[in-house]
Amino acid sequence: MMSDRATASLDGLAEQPGVPKPDPILTVSNVSRSFGGLKAVDVEHLEIQRGMITALIGPNGAGKTTFFNLMTGFDQADTGERVFNGERLSRRAGSAPARRAVASAGVVTVALLGGLVVGGAVGQGNVRLGQILGFVVGLTLLFFGNRMLLTSPPGPRSNAFLDGRAARPLYGIAGLATGLVVSEIAVWATHLDGRWSTLLPFFGTVSSGILGFALGSYVQGPYSPHELAQHGMVRTFQLTKSLTKLPVIQNMALGAKGQVGERLSRGLIHPLWTDQEASIEERADELLKRFKLDHMRNEFAGTLSGGQRKLLEMARALMTDPTLVMLDEPMAGVNPALTQSLLEHIQGLRDDGLTVVFVEHDMDVVSEISDWVVVMAEGRIIAEGPPVAIGRNQQVIDAYLGSDHESNLVRTVDGTGTRDAPTREAPTGDVTTSDDTTGKGSDGASNSDGGV
Ligand SMILES: Nc1ncnc2c1ncn2[C@@H]1O[C@H](COP(=O)(O)OP(=O)(O)O)[C@@H](O)[C@H]1O
Ligand SMILES: [Mg+2]
Repeated sequence: MMSDRATASLDGLAEQPGVPKPDPILTVSNVSRSFGGLKAVDVEHLEIQRGMITALIGPNGAGKTTFFNLMTGFDQADTGERVFNGERLSRRAGSAPARRAVASAGVVTVALLGGLVVGGAVGQGNVRLGQILGFVVGLTLLFFGNRMLLTSPPGPRSNAFLDGRAARPLYGIAGLATGLVVSEIAVWATHLDGRWSTLLPFFGTVSSGILGFALGSYVQGPYSPHELAQHGMVRTFQLTKSLTKLPVIQNMALGAKGQVGERLSRGLIHPLWTDQEASIEERADELLKRFKLDHMRNEFAGTLSGGQRKLLEMARALMTDPTLVMLDEPMAGVNPALTQSLLEHIQGLRDDGLTVVFVEHDMDVVSEISDWVVVMAEGRIIAEGPPVAIGRNQQVIDAYLGSDHESNLVRTVDGTGTRDAPTREAPTGDVTTSDDTTGKGSDGASNSDGGV
C-alpha cells in the first residue's frame, strides 16, 4: 500500500524524467559511466524524494546496478555530480586528469628527493657525487614508481592512497619536497652562495608547499563506500555479501560505525571499548529480532538460506544508522514465503523515516510498496511517476514490460501466488498419454513419428 503521507507530497508532480521533488534527499545531475564503448549509465537529472520508497525498474542491462555503484562509491562516474542531504558529494568534474597530473608530480618529487637523500648519504661529503647518484636513483624510482601508480585507471582501488582525505596533506608534502628539490637544484646549477643559497630553498619550499596544499584541496578524490556510509548512504547487493565464516552476530557488529576498538592504539586498551561493544551488540540483537534472525545469532552466516542472507544484509546495513538505503534486487532469489516479510521490512524502513530506493522486476511488488517509480533503459531515465501511471505508460511498456506486460498486470499478490491452473485450458484426453503410446485415433501419426 502506498502511504498517504507519501502520495500526498508527490501529488501533482509532472510524470517526466528528472522532475524536481519537493524534498529530495539525493539529487544527481549528468551522471555518466562508460565501459569501453558502452554507456552503461547516462542520467541527466534525478531526484529521490526523502522518506519514500522509490522503485528503480528497467530491463536487464539497463544500468541499475551500475547506477547504485556510482551512488554508493563502489564505482566512480566519468562525469556528473551528486548532492546528498544538501551536501555535494561528487568529485569535481574533470578532476581525474588533474589528479593524475598531481600524482605524477608527487611521484617525481618523492623520487628525486629520495634519490638526493640516498645519494647524499652515499656521497659522504662529496656533494657533487651525491647529487649525481641521487638523480640516478631518483630517475629509476620515477620510472618504476610512475608506472606503478599511473598506468592503472583511476578508481577506488587503483588510487585509493591518493584519493579522498589523504589528498591535501599528500599534495602539500609533495609540494614541499618539490620546492626543496627544485631550489636546491637552482642553487647548485647557478653556483649561488651566501644569503641566497639559504633564502632560495626556504622560499621555494614554502611557496610550493602552499601550492601543493591548495592543489590537494582542489583535487578532491571520490568518496569511498565507507565514507558515504558515514554520511548515511548505504546499499545492499544483488548477490549478497556476507562473511560466511563469521557468526551472524559478528557480521552485524561489523556494520557499526565509529568503533573505538578499530584503532590499534585504543583497541589494545580493553576498558576503552567494552561499553561500546556491548551497546553495538545490543543494537545488533534488536535488529536480528526485528528481522527474525535472532535464532541464528550464533550460527555462521554461511549456514543461512538465500533469503535469510538478504535479511542479514539489510539488517547489517541498518547498523550504520543510514538515512538512505539502496537495495539492489532484495527479492531476487528469495523463497516466496519470505518475500512478503521482506516487503513488510522495506515498508517498515520507510515508516521509521528512512528513504528507500530498490531495484525490482516484479511489477506487483513495485505497485504494492513503492510510492514512486523510476524507469531506466539503456542507461537513461526514460520515465518516472506513481506506480499506477507507470504501469500504463506506453514507453515503459515498450521498453521494459514488453510482451510480458499483460501477465504481469494480471498477477495478484493475494497469497495464492502466481496465476496458474484455472487460467490454463485443461488438456484434452486425446493429447495426454505421456506414458502410454498405444495411440488413439488420429494420434496414430504422432505415434509413428515417435516410433521411427
Ligand atoms: N564492470 C563492468 N565492465 C563492463 N561492462 C559492465 C560492467 N558493469 C556493467 N557493465 C555493463 O553495463 C550495462 C549495465 O549493467 P548493469 O548496471 O549491471 O545493469 P542492470 O543492473 O540494470 O541489469 C550492461 O550492459 C553491463 O554489461
Ligand atoms: Mg543489476
